[in-house]
Amino acid sequence: MCGIFAYSGEPTNASQLILKGLKNLEYRGYDSWGIAVKKGNSIYLEKHVGKISNAQIKKVVSKVGIGHTRWATHGGITIKNAHPHLDCTQKIAVVHNGIVENFEEIKKRLIKQKHRFVSETDTEVIAHMIEDKIRSGKSIENATYLTFKELRGLNAIIVFYPEKNTFLAIKNSSPLIIGKGKRGFFIASDITAIIEHVNQVYYLKDNELVVIKDKDAYLLEVKKHKKIKIKFTKPQISVDDVGLGKYPNYMIKEINEQPKVIFNIAKNYKQNIKKIANKIRKSYGTYFIGCGTAYFAGLSGTYLFSKIAKRHVNSAVGSEFVYLIDFIKKESLVLALSQSGETIDIISSIKKVKEKGAYVTAITNVAGSTLYRMADDKLLLNAGPEKCVLATKSFTAKIAVLYLIAHTLNGSYDKAVENLIKVTKEIKKIIKNKKIKKIAQKIVNKRHIYILGRGVSYPTALESALKIKEVSYIHAEGFPAGELKHGVIALINKGTPVIVYNPTDETYDDTLSSAHEVKSRGAYVIGIGSKPNKIYDEFIHVDDCKNANIIPNVVIAQLLGYYLAIEKGLDPDKPRNLAKSVTVK
Ligand code: G6P
Repeated sequence: MCGIFAYSGEPTNASQLILKGLKNLEYRGYDSWGIAVKKGNSIYLEKHVGKISNAQIKKVVSKVGIGHTRWATHGGITIKNAHPHLDCTQKIAVVHNGIVENFEEIKKRLIKQKHRFVSETDTEVIAHMIEDKIRSGKSIENATYLTFKELRGLNAIIVFYPEKNTFLAIKNSSPLIIGKGKRGFFIASDITAIIEHVNQVYYLKDNELVVIKDKDAYLLEVKKHKKIKIKFTKPQISVDDVGLGKYPNYMIKEINEQPKVIFNIAKNYKQNIKKIANKIRKSYGTYFIGCGTAYFAGLSGTYLFSKIAKRHVNSAVGSEFVYLIDFIKKESLVLALSQSGETIDIISSIKKVKEKGAYVTAITNVAGSTLYRMADDKLLLNAGPEKCVLATKSFTAKIAVLYLIAHTLNGSYDKAVENLIKVTKEIKKIIKNKKIKKIAQKIVNKRHIYILGRGVSYPTALESALKIKEVSYIHAEGFPAGELKHGVIALINKGTPVIVYNPTDETYDDTLSSAHEVKSRGAYVIGIGSKPNKIYDEFIHVDDCKNANIIPNVVIAQLLGYYLAIEKGLDPDKPRNLAKSVTVK
């Protein structure tokens, strides 16, 4: 979590430029933010608590500066804890993404050496460690490198040393992208924050130290004191991919993009899909891992593979997989699902999996991400930047991919493509369906929503509950319809909204019985499927898309969550306490 941004180049309104960059990174963390720019020979520092979206900043013309948007880990949400953090001499400013796991012991040592700390953060130790090393005669380059090597954990830092018009960056796992453009050099945690300024990019590798000094940028091999030219490449996204266009927020923009994303996958992925299917055929056990929405995509995949390909595939939550990998062998295949490709629980699991020699295929949306670079094989979703904290188009894109792989394994790829095209049309109809908004208006004051599904509709129910609760803050719980009578039915009373996913597949009759069971306890039943029934208080029609029903069904929940948030006056793009890219454990 946390977003980092830095600029070095022509003199400009640097404070505004950095603030704008941070606004693009706000999805990574939005409890507080700050900037540090060179003013005269010292640091102009400004820090704030709260969202950046509508923030203003004093104009400060400068050639160089850094900024940070925070998602608190160590220390509360206060101005003092916001980054950048300075050393005692106020000559060094640091921004950081990650957790310094050994910060307590380092801090104790530094306090004994009379360093003065102003924050409760782990980050502040970095500035003081560098200060110490500079005092003992080291260059800023050496001091930064040696300090970074002492930090435990997965971290990315930018160290700003205005006295020498310099900033340096180094990372271990967390992403940093260097960009070069007409105005100068930029560094950010995400390419979307710098794309409007640059035409060349470089994804910094772990433990590479980049030095940016005035108009010069190079990698430095510290031990040999050797400068290495940066091999820039053309960026894979453009400015048009990043903006809101005609939409009021990213959530609704990204929901609307789904037909296009799925159409692209249906039409252009044959070779990639075939390659993964062959690997699955040959491997000794396949495992899907993901976190949050990506986990539910994997779980949906388990059902799809069983039903369509008659194959058992295990799925696990990224953070749990590390405790389950004793059975991984070098013949195993792990398919890691991650929109950002940066989720730390996935990266940590994959590191362990790779130590065991297993093969890793990444299914991700971000080229050059940490997962992308670690994996043996990769498939890009090409869904375009997903900026809303809630995953929408990346979920349905992953389902489309898994659905095509399952069909490839049973030799029915073309049939699957045809069905996915039908899905794209269905999504367009759902987006226009006014009933979803009306239902949101009716249930907006409810405290609990329950969601039932069987078979492939069970992970759909889980993902739907996640969407609704994270954006509207209404408690929502999805569970297998068959489990109703084992507990949750105790919570159903007059007027409790219960969403029932009931496609016309082998689950239809049993799920309808579950609908009867909740209805007779007074539930307000919202049926979703292709067959209406008088048991439903509300019915949302979806044409039968067979095993791909997951996609249109989830789109309904995305929209329901969205309208609930709008009714409550909430910002759908940045729900409280959440971040898009979870790069800390
Ligand atoms: C966070 C986001 C979710 C996302 C999950 C996994 O919790 O808020 O939207 O599903 O991380 O992210 P990934 O980038 O690995 O798919």
